[in-house]
Amino acid sequence: MTSPVFRDNLLRGKVAFVTGGSSGICLRIAERFATQGAKVAILGRTQEKLDRATAGIREAGGVAIGFAADVRDYAALSGALQKARETYGEIDILLCGAAGNFPAPALGMSANGFKAVIDIDLLGTFNTCRAAYEHLRKPGASVVAISATHAFRPIPLQAHVCAGKAGVDILIKTLAVEWGSAGVRLNVISPGPVDQTEGMRRLAPTEDIRARLTRSIPLQRFASKDEIADLALFLCSAGAAYITGAVFVCDGGQSLTGSSFASVMDRAT
Ligand code: COA
Repeated sequence: MTSPVFRDNLLRGKVAFVTGGSSGICLRIAERFATQGAKVAILGRTQEKLDRATAGIREAGGVAIGFAADVRDYAALSGALQKARETYGEIDILLCGAAGNFPAPALGMSANGFKAVIDIDLLGTFNTCRAAYEHLRKPGASVVAISATHAFRPIPLQAHVCAGKAGVDILIKTLAVEWGSAGVRLNVISPGPVDQTEGMRRLAPTEDIRARLTRSIPLQRFASKDEIADLALFLCSAGAAYITGAVFVCDGGQSLTGSSFASVMDRAT
């Protein structure tokens, strides 16, 4: 899908590695990178979803390959990065988007349930950056992690995600400081509610919750996946050459209002 905002071929000659890219926001980002000229390697857990995603990108004229692995498995992740480099060449762009979520009150969540999300979101982002560094350590390389406004505002039923995303934000800032001298830039996109995603299907499962959530957003609507993809594209383009260690909130102003997910409070204890 072409961007309505940016001119074409902004990423010509680049190689992008996208985790969590077989569906949702990160698939839209992978599609956007491909239509802008990048060769795209997608990592996801399910082969069937990967096959569908890469076939769609190829049908639209892009170049894409899929790798089935879990970001919690460092060896498998390293192997996929190595194969992506052997296939397409040095990696220029890393998109850390693999995430897990289920709505549950803290008291309804086992230690293992909490750990599952921390391991996918936070440890998975660390693993991806750590394993990818040797493939992208060069001036112009760009890393973008997908966080959420959960990182800086408590949301009922989301203790695991709030803790994990807060960790992602400070991890990326720290790596931006450590890796800046190598020319590697790292930034965070922090979306609020995004339309037509698995996350919102889980967090806003009824029309009533969705309507109340929409009223809490100053712009009175959810973001589209395209809007998040355009922000990711900008951060990976030459236009963002002096931006690193920044968190870009893209939530229609929702986190400014102080209204949390009040609509789900009745399910929180
Ligand atoms: N409520 C409470 N606990 C839950 C749960 C729920 N709805 N869903 C999973 N868990 C717990 C499990 O009970 C298990 O804990 P236990 O061993 O103490 O019983 C733990 O989480 C791990 O479960 P498992 O099924 O092995 O998880 P996984 O590691 O294969 O999957 C999840 C990861 C749990 C995050 C899963 O929900 C997932 O993959 N979701 C799809 C991705 C997604 O949500 N994407 C959108 C991101 S915004």
